[in-house]
Amino acid sequence: MHTAGSIKALKGRKKIVMLTAYDYTMSSLLEKAGVDMILVGDSLGMVFQGNATTLPVTVDEVIYHTKAVMKGAKKTMVVADMPFMSYQASKGAAKKNGGRVIKETGAAAVKLEGGADIIPQVKALVDAGIPVMGHIGMQPQSVKKYGGYPVFGRTPAEEKELVEAAKRLEAAGVFSLVIEKTAARAAGAVTKAVKIPVIGIGAGPECDGQVLVTHDMLGFFEDFKPKFVKRYERLAVRAVKAVKRFSEDVRGKKYPRRKYYF
Ligand code: KIV
Repeated sequence: MHTAGSIKALKGRKKIVMLTAYDYTMSSLLEKAGVDMILVGDSLGMVFQGNATTLPVTVDEVIYHTKAVMKGAKKTMVVADMPFMSYQASKGAAKKNGGRVIKETGAAAVKLEGGADIIPQVKALVDAGIPVMGHIGMQPQSVKKYGGYPVFGRTPAEEKELVEAAKRLEAAGVFSLVIEKTAARAAGAVTKAVKIPVIGIGAGPECDGQVLVTHDMLGFFEDFKPKFVKRYERLAVRAVKAVKRFSEDVRGKKYPRRKYYF
């Protein structure tokens, strides 16, 4: 099972694979497939709960989902997202909520969105013995500030800002970074600038690893498809077909046949 330390050691040696899960069944499948890390992302607010953004997700909900994910991830490192306003207000809030997530779920680490603005919170968590993954570039928890989900790092000034943020987070003690929806050149510059692994989502090929929302990658979630998502399956289409076949069987009295009852 990976730890923050062994994930750090993968930089430059092996590309890191991370995918999201919000429940036991999905984390069991990801473990079977051999991913390096499972992320209980606050994307659960959109994918699982059907909200328009990730903002309504609570600490209690992250704890609930992480507990379920942990049961399927017996040998896989689990990282839990800190939801909107569970850490932004103060170091105290970060320690109280980050501590709850780790203590009540057994997850190996937490992930926080933010750059220079959250350095005190990152340090407070790391000092308390909680491994922290950073998240820079496009930060979905700031959707109201952005007015959407823009691409980051397109100008030299933005690239410089991202590199600075990554360096400050590294100095504060994060063991790795997610960089989201960022121009490939800027993400490459960030990856080169730090010694910790940088895991991209919509951030091009130069990152040390890649993360996607599993429901996107499997074609299970169809409300929208970001440009960076490659669908490896069309599970939504297959599921609807299967449910239609079941419905036909029930209505046509073909199910249950003899072998399916006692
Ligand atoms: O919430 C999430 O699933 C994430 C990934 C998209 C990185 O933060």
